[in-house]
Amino acid sequence: MRKVLLLLVICGAALTGAALAQSALPYWAYPVPRHPWPQPDPRQVVHVPGVKKTFTVAGVNDRFNVPDWYPASHPRMPQIVAHGRKPDVFACGYCHLPNGQGRPENASLAGQPAAYIVNQVADMRSGRRKSSSDKMGSINAMMAVAKASNDAEVKIAADYFSKLKFAKWIRVVETDKVQKTDIAQRNMLVVVPGPKEKIGRRILEIPENLERTEVRDSKSGFIAYVPRGSIARGKALVESGAGAFPCAACHGPDYRGNGNVPALAGRSPSGIVRQLHDFRAGTRNGAGAAMMQPEVAHMTDDMQIDIAAYLASLNP
Ligand code: HEC
Ligand code: HEC
Repeated sequence: MRKVLLLLVICGAALTGAALAQSALPYWAYPVPRHPWPQPDPRQVVHVPGVKKTFTVAGVNDRFNVPDWYPASHPRMPQIVAHGRKPDVFACGYCHLPNGQGRPENASLAGQPAAYIVNQVADMRSGRRKSSSDKMGSINAMMAVAKASNDAEVKIAADYFSKLKFAKWIRVVETDKVQKTDIAQRNMLVVVPGPKEKIGRRILEIPENLERTEVRDSKSGFIAYVPRGSIARGKALVESGAGAFPCAACHGPDYRGNGNVPALAGRSPSGIVRQLHDFRAGTRNGAGAAMMQPEVAHMTDDMQIDIAAYLASLNP
């Protein structure tokens, strides 16, 4: 009897320990700058390779006039996507980019079902979808846009983004060691000088070309460094369902979305971890999130990393 009791106490302590370990937010999925960075001169003129037009630094950072380097590569942006609505609805295309590719600190909207986009913004407006972090400027700005925008505007934006084709632009690289990174303004991981370090249990998603990303070049993608072996482990978890239903049952056979269920293939792995974390924490709790609850109930932080590495490595 005493042995059983002792065992129960030990198990209890181990479980509490596990729950605590899982509740810490992975800093690389919710990046927040730790110190100020030097600001470029707003009058400085910037370029991207192969494009004749130029912008100023102030111009590429105008939240009501989206810098569009490649207007011919996508349909005409509706007013709400290109300009938003002053004073408090920033243009959707500023953060999610004119082609909807999105960035690690926000989300790719290209090719996501229109009804899904509408529902997510509605969930953010009603408070059913929040982030587990209240420190990321990008997410707080999205929440403010959700509250200030109206149904008609979101519907127009959703129709626009859902018709765009999401292109593969994240290169997933398995590795043991990575370059030293820091968190720049706008919640972006960047490489900094210093000796290489162990990747450990992290996903480090950084711009392929920081200069191009800084000027919001919508054709310059990202590299995601992931732990060695994570893609194969993730494949097994995704196909088995990680203790619940296989992911393909709802997200489609190639994880390219199905009906109103969002696509996952080729999407940002840090963004995927953030969402899995938010479902598990219950901060993402709209009507659709109920279907994700059993999926994340037994998903450890390590499993989330492997799953995200695999899904991001797939062709969209
Ligand atoms: C200031 C930057 C910013 C602007 C402007 C912005 N968003 Fe977002 N959006 C974000 C961020 C950041 C997230 C990711 C939230 C998270 O990870 O929890 C996001 C997420 C979303 C999502 C959820 C996608 C998913 O698959 O989970 C939708 C839908 C969305 N935004 C739609 C819009 C629409 C429509 C507009 C314009 C009316 C807009 N956004 C404007 C930053 C922005
Ligand atoms: C029973 C159906 C179902 C299954 C099975 C399922 N999902 Fe989902 N998933 C959904 C729905 C519905 C949503 C949209 C949730 C919402 O509305 O907030 C979603 C959303 C997501 C998102 C957020 C995407 C984004 O752009 O924000 C991720 C990540 C995700 N699922 C991963 C998985 C993984 C990994 C598995 C397998 C382990 C899985 N899902 C299995 C139904 C399912």
